[in-house]
Parts: sequence; structure tokens; C-alpha cells
Amino acid sequence: MLSKKLEKALNEQIRIEAESSQVYLSMASWAEVKGLEGVAGFMYGHSDEERMHMLKLVKYVNERGGHAHISDLKAPKTDFGTFKEMFQELYDHEIFVSQSINDLVHVTLEEKDYATHNFLQWYVAEQLEEEALARTVLDKINLIGNDKGGLYLFDRDIQQLTVESAASDTAGE
Ligand SMILES: [Fe+2]
Ligand SMILES: [Fe+2]
Repeated sequence: MLSKKLEKALNEQIRIEAESSQVYLSMASWAEVKGLEGVAGFMYGHSDEERMHMLKLVKYVNERGGHAHISDLKAPKTDFGTFKEMFQELYDHEIFVSQSINDLVHVTLEEKDYATHNFLQWYVAEQLEEEALARTVLDKINLIGNDKGGLYLFDRDIQQLTVESAASDTAGE
């Protein structure tokens, strides 16, 4: 059985993952409207992943005798300024999520819930990969600057970038 404190913290993470999914969905739609199909596809895919992160938590909480709460969500922005600003925001958002996962892991130790501690290790590893991916993309976009041709190529190449490929890039450094 989950402690009330841990159940509350897990429910908070469920909301954060759901909001992340909404943020990336909004980025996808914005990029699509701006004509960058590759970036849009990348963001739609990322949005799906965040929903999967949320679902995994929902099922875990319910399996452990808690009640996963599906709450209202903060509406994401609909305009992201420039592509560079949008990818900076994606990176900052992943750092924020990593911090919240760390805080959650800390609660499992306080509550001496080692099963949940173990369960959350998947999220710890996932955040490392997502941070690496966000950093890779941000580095690329910073190289391009305001070059239109560069952005065109970037839009084509980003479709090959996934969490797994960024992780192996990082492992090879
Ligand atoms: Fe996530
Ligand atoms: Fe993420």
C-alpha cells in the first residue's frame, strides 16, 4: 500500500507528465502551422511519449492500492516565438521534470517505499536520455542561428533524432 504522502507526490507527477504532453503537443501544432513538418513530427512523437510516462504512473498508483487522479491541466502557450526559443523551452522543461522526479525519488526514501523507489529508476534513466536529446537538439539549433537553409536541413534531419539515438551519442562521447 502506498503512503498518503507518496500517493500525493505520485499524483503530482502524473499531472506534470500530462502537462508535458500538452506542452509538446502545442509545440507540435505551432511548428506544423509554421511549415516545419519534421519539427512537428518530432514534437508529436514527444507528446505521445509523455502521455505514456503519465499512463505508466497511473497504472502503478492503482496497482499499489492508491487512486491515480486525473486532474485539470495548465494550458500551454500557443506561440513559441522562434524555433530557438522553443527548443530552449523544451530543454528547460526537461530539466524541471528531472528535478521533480528527483524530489519524488526522495519521498520514496523518506517513506521507505523501496518498490516505488525501484519503479522510479526507469524515470531517472529516461530523464537522463531526454535531457541529452534536448541538449543535442538545442546545440544544433544554436549552430544554425537564423540561417533559413540550415533550418530547412534541420527540419529534415530532426526526424531521425529519437531519445535512443541521442543517448547513444552521449554514451559515445
Ligand atoms: Fe516525461
Ligand atoms: Fe520528457
